Amino acid sequence: MALTIQSFSGSDATPFFGDLARLRSTVFRAFPYLYEGNPEYEQTYLSTYAKSEGSVFVLAIDDDQVVGVATGTPMAGETDEVKRPFLQAGLDPEQFFYFGESVLLPQYRGQGIGVKFFEGREAQAKKLGLSFATFCAVERPLDHPRRPVDYQPLDTFWSKRGYTHHPELRTTFTWRDLDDTVESPKPLSFWIRDLTA
Ligand SMILES: CC(C)(COP(=O)(O)OP(=O)(O)OC[C@H]1O[C@@H](n2cnc3c(N)ncnc32)[C@H](O)[C@@H]1OP(=O)(O)O)[C@@H](O)C(=O)NCCC(=O)NCCS
Repeated sequence: MALTIQSFSGSDATPFFGDLARLRSTVFRAFPYLYEGNPEYEQTYLSTYAKSEGSVFVLAIDDDQVVGVATGTPMAGETDEVKRPFLQAGLDPEQFFYFGESVLLPQYRGQGIGVKFFEGREAQAKKLGLSFATFCAVERPLDHPRRPVDYQPLDTFWSKRGYTHHPELRTTFTWRDLDDTVESPKPLSFWIRDLTA
């Protein structure tokens, strides 16, 4: 059976929440996320999507295995950490669709699935009549000891998809890095695409 890409609303995606938690914990262990994984946090995080009106899960399914997931939700229902930089900059969260993450197992990369993840979420944003799509990315120092020598940032990929970096829109998310014993806030900055252009 071929690999398929399927979109589900947040509430219809409930059966796949275990897959998303598994993929997040597997893929986000790598640089630049270095996320140790926290089942309790994953549960809270996923319940946001279950409750959120208008959220979407775009799944990559190989046979009956979920091998990748991308999520998106109207920013209006997001946490303060996500909305605050926009409110402080005088931007209206009601106009934005927010992408949570794209996570794809390494052996499935480079076949255009990442592009389909963007297309699926942008289609949902447009269906909801929202003008902008946005996501944020973690910032790590260039000399970070865990940075692989051959690491390639995704900036070119995102620019090619029509997203512009807005380093002035900043937030922090808190998690525990692989090498740490305690959680610490990590800086992230936002990328935006005008869907009406
Ligand atoms: C982001 C991700 C989902 C992209 O998936 P993908 O299916 O490999 O992407 P595509 O095959 O659609 O690639 C699209 C383009 O981006 C480029 N690209 C994809 N992954 C890349 C990477 N890690 N570094 C640099 N370029 C990359 C591809 O070369 C391709 O370029 P082209 O259009 O010129 O051919 C995948 O790399 C991933 O899961 N990464 C780890 C998690 C992550 O960083 N997620 C993003 C933030 S939540």
